[in-house]
Amino acid sequence: MTTPGLDLDKLVNQPENWNFSDARQLYAGVDLGTYKAITIIIDETGKPRAARMRRAKVVRSGLIVDYAGAQNIVSEMIKEMRAASQLPIEKGATSYPPQTEYANIDATRYILEGVGLEVLNVLDEPTAANQILKLENGAIVDVGVGTTGIAVIKDGKIVFADDEATGGVHLSLVLAGNYKISYEEAEEVKIDHQKSHEILPIVRPVIEKIASIVDACLQQFNDLTEVCLVGGTCELEGFTEIVQKALSIKTFRPEFPQFTTPLGIALSCLDENGGHS
Ligand SMILES: Nc1ncnc2c1ncn2[C@@H]1O[C@H](COP(=O)(O)OP(=O)(O)OP(=O)(O)O)[C@@H](O)[C@H]1O
Ligand SMILES: [Mg+2]
Repeated sequence: MTTPGLDLDKLVNQPENWNFSDARQLYAGVDLGTYKAITIIIDETGKPRAARMRRAKVVRSGLIVDYAGAQNIVSEMIKEMRAASQLPIEKGATSYPPQTEYANIDATRYILEGVGLEVLNVLDEPTAANQILKLENGAIVDVGVGTTGIAVIKDGKIVFADDEATGGVHLSLVLAGNYKISYEEAEEVKIDHQKSHEILPIVRPVIEKIASIVDACLQQFNDLTEVCLVGGTCELEGFTEIVQKALSIKTFRPEFPQFTTPLGIALSCLDENGGHS
């Protein structure tokens, strides 16, 4: 499957490739995760123009635990992008994990407002991802750091959402133990695409465990046609195939699984303006 915004990997943290020329309007999608904060700027047609991603420790299990830190990171990213663009960046959107809405929804909104963005949308993460995936009857499984979000979609609407306490952290812990290295070193090994082949047998049982947790959650839905994997952990080569085998249902991932939600957040600004579907 191809995600709109093919050039995202060339834009993220590569300001030399940011290009705002000919844009008529710019919108910011801001995603504050446990692992990283990311801002994607799109134009009025939905084309990504710039993107900045930074490792951040301001959110834990979907909740903002360092409000000032989160404010600083978003402020620095937006300032840098404004400095690079002739057009103003005045409007944006953000998201929250399902089930944290009451605690988080205002905090994320205030962070955007604090950098002078008019907030067009604060939407839940699977709804944001489905702006791009456009599933009608399926499930979106978002495998992040410490949590895996599971959302079931029927007739294009989310009918069930759950967050399970499993994710990339468990892969890194197993790698750290296996290689007798620190957690941070294990993170480096895990995200090195050239090492996928070597590490897959080591983390396979962890992936199978994640898949069994997802499977247990999806058991009650017997007419699902497909499962789409998003989130950083799904970047691991071989991850999708192991999950598909365990679920026995068509399972796929979009081209840039860790950018699906943030790009969807940005695209939601166009819905609010009635300009894009
Ligand atoms: N190339 C990669 N291969 C394997 N794992 C990866 C890769 N890139 C990132 N990850 C892992 O993905 C996880 C982060 O996922 P993601 O970016 O979706 O999280 P987040 O949205 O910031 O956090 P969360 O959704 O848990 O709040 C981390 O555990 C990280 O190690
Ligand atoms: Mg996330």
